[in-house]
Formats: sequence, structure tokens, C-alpha cells
Amino acid sequence: MAAKQRLDKVLAHLGYGTRSELKKLVKSGVVTVNDVLVKDSGMQVNPEADRIMVAGEVIVYREFVYLMMNKPPGVVSATEDRRDRTVVDLLPQAFQPFDVFPVGRLDKDTEGLLLLTNDGKLAHNLLSPRKHVSKTYFAKIDGDVGEADRVAFTEGVTLDDGYKTLPAELQIIQPGSNANGVYAEIELTIVEGKFHQVKRMFESVGKKVVYLKRISMGPLALDPALPLGKTRELTDQEILDLQRHNHI
Ligand code: URA
Repeated sequence: MAAKQRLDKVLAHLGYGTRSELKKLVKSGVVTVNDVLVKDSGMQVNPEADRIMVAGEVIVYREFVYLMMNKPPGVVSATEDRRDRTVVDLLPQAFQPFDVFPVGRLDKDTEGLLLLTNDGKLAHNLLSPRKHVSKTYFAKIDGDVGEADRVAFTEGVTLDDGYKTLPAELQIIQPGSNANGVYAEIELTIVEGKFHQVKRMFESVGKKVVYLKRISMGPLALDPALPLGKTRELTDQEILDLQRHNHI
């Protein structure tokens, strides 16, 4: 159960305005707590137990939000950037007050599944190198991809900085490529998250990733109905699956 907090803090967290805006709003007589009109925006409330209404509507309080984005290319996985647009800039206004951040990074040109949340504990667990959370990518590759690559990835390959990767699972969807821009298509599941890992793994076997999209992370799969650049909240089941996964 949430602790008691100032009314204006609760409402600010949900995006109803700044502290000073809320002072005016509450003074104007549109806010009730347990059906009693209140005028003091600093009053203490329990946002989970008390029934708070603003202009006749009951507020739905929650501390954490969990969002799935289908990241488009051309935006960076950060909360702020001096040059580029960030994934946070793409979020609908309703999610802005929650101060979410991306759980891990996708390269600027990579698309697909990105989890954003303000639940630091869940994010920390998902990103912990000790947890070996699996991430599956779909990629198009310039070069022929074959059994030798599958074996090499299973055994671990050595990246340009000398790091040897943990076993990864390569599924070849379409092996061949030719000079006419027909690329090989694969799915690769890795259990770590080194910088540019998928691209560098293919470089280590002499091939180039020309398109990269993340399709799953742990138990969470990219919703195929979610258009590029769009975000939706996780379902209760998806949140539960992530929390359970974290406790393994
Ligand atoms: N591997 C990469 O090379 N890039 C990504 O964005 C994610 C994994």
C-alpha cells in the first residue's frame, strides 16, 4: 500500500500539472477526496486507498508504468540527447509525467522491441549480466549465412576487442544472398548485451548486418500489431511474466 503523500505530488505524478497549477486547481474547488471537497493542495492522502476525484473523474493512481515501443530507426535509446530525437520524445503525452527510461539500448538504426519503464528494480534485474536474459533479433545479412556460422555462434565468437561471446542460437530463415540485394535472413538469440553485439558477431564471421530488429526480450515479445514508432502499455499478463522471469 502506498504511503501518505501530498495531494499535489500525487496529481503532479499523474500529469495533472505543476505544483503551482495544482494549487490553483484545488483552490478552484474541483477536487474531492473521499467525496469531500478539498481546498488545500498540500493535504496528505493515500493515493491507493483514498478516492480522489478531479472535475468529477476518479483518478487512477499507479506508481510504475511499463511500456512496449516498436522503436523506429533514426531515434536514440536515451531520455535526452543533444543532437538526436530520443525514444522518450516519441511517447504520447499521457506517459510523459512518469519519467520512464529505456531498459537497455538499441542502436539508432535498429528497430523493434524496446521496454520503457520507471521501475528501476525491474530494469536493473533485466539488464543484470548475471541474469542472462535472452534477446532475439531478426536480421538481414549481406553475405551467405550457413551451418558454419551457426556452429561458430553456438561455440562463441571473438569480437574485435578480443571478447568471446557466450553461446548464441542462430536460426537461418533464408541462407542465400546474391549481388542483386537479396539478403540472408536470420534470427539470433543472445543472452548478453555487448555494444553493437549482433553486428559485431556477424563482422567476426566476415558478414554485414544491413537490417536489425529486436523481436523479443526474456518472456516479452514484440506485438506484431504495434506499428513502428508506436507505444502501448504492457498487459497485466506481460508484466507478471516479466516479474516472474526476474525472480528465476
Ligand atoms: N546488437 C546490435 O548490434 N545492435 C543493436 O541495436 C542491438 C544488438
